[in-house]
Amino acid sequence: MKVGDRHYRSIWMEDGAVRIIDQRWLPHEFRVVTVESLDEFAAAIREMWVRGAPLIGATAAYGVACAMARDPSDGTLTETCEVLHATRPTAVNLRWALEAMRAAVAPLPAGDRATAAFAKAAAICDEDVEMNRMIGVHGLEIVREIATRKDGPVRVLTHCNAGWLATVDWGTATSPIYQAHEAGIPVHVFVDETRPRNQGALLTAWELAGHGVSHDLIVDNAGGHLMQRGEVDLVITGTDRTTARGDVCNKIGTYLKALAAHDNGVPFYVALPSPTIDWTISDGFEIPIEERGGDEVTHVQGKLADGAVSSVQISPDATPARNPAFDVTPARLVTGLITERGVVAPGELAGLFPDRAA
Ligand code: MRU
Repeated sequence: MKVGDRHYRSIWMEDGAVRIIDQRWLPHEFRVVTVESLDEFAAAIREMWVRGAPLIGATAAYGVACAMARDPSDGTLTETCEVLHATRPTAVNLRWALEAMRAAVAPLPAGDRATAAFAKAAAICDEDVEMNRMIGVHGLEIVREIATRKDGPVRVLTHCNAGWLATVDWGTATSPIYQAHEAGIPVHVFVDETRPRNQGALLTAWELAGHGVSHDLIVDNAGGHLMQRGEVDLVITGTDRTTARGDVCNKIGTYLKALAAHDNGVPFYVALPSPTIDWTISDGFEIPIEERGGDEVTHVQGKLADGAVSSVQISPDATPARNPAFDVTPARLVTGLITERGVVAPGELAGLFPDRAA
């Protein structure tokens, strides 16, 4: 998507190097950094310079490619995949991308591996862009249908950042929003701040502001109230792993939004490219939930009056914190899954992907 005069993806090759946007500094600074060593790729994913399920997978793919350029041996391939796989446990796109890279590279002689690995990583990125564009094409019809039934903008509530920064481009939940905006359908987005890391406040709000999409930032606890008052027409979120039966694992707090949507008759959609489906799991409670450090809860990062970006403590020194980063929304609370192949009820996922379902 456009930042200033330039079209950016969230990861790209430039002058023979892999470049990413270091998202820890947004919206205060737009910093582009180069990643090259295995340590840098692992830190970029673990410490969330990049984040979002599809982008984690794409970054890992380039991590393997860079490793193959340094040393195309079987040992390096195995070690690289193991190190990158251990960085974050919940988004299945990471495992998917590493398996795709291994399948593309392992059968080849060492001398051909680096070239093939960079080509495969580029293909994973291009496919992600196309899948997310198609999610927007299908999701746009949901927005359009609501627009025909009401006056004023279609009011969408979203959680976390499932925008272009979380994918290679377009975003998942934001793709229908961007495409509706481009089609001239008025949309207004309620952006959950998404404590503790505030991906909504920092990233989704930045994206929407940059594209001129009407939005309000709301605290995480406001969504239920707005739904009770009839101020939300639909909810669209992303997902880090969706099971074969359509249970959805996404950023912590998504489940509470689904409960509120269900109680108030608000449609609750989840947008996902197919690599986010874990066909090996049916029950969402089998998904490993990442527990992050308590400092993300006890401290908040923001821009100080003097312009410096800093972290401030908001709780007593002696207070410990729990920080589960994701939760599971059961399929029964999900109205529909918006995929690159179309929109389906959660229980019909296997019918849409008969070539993938186990
Ligand atoms: O911890 P994060 O920022 O990586 O979590 C991201 C999310 O939960 C997104 O909603 C999810 O990855 C879907 S992004 C298209």
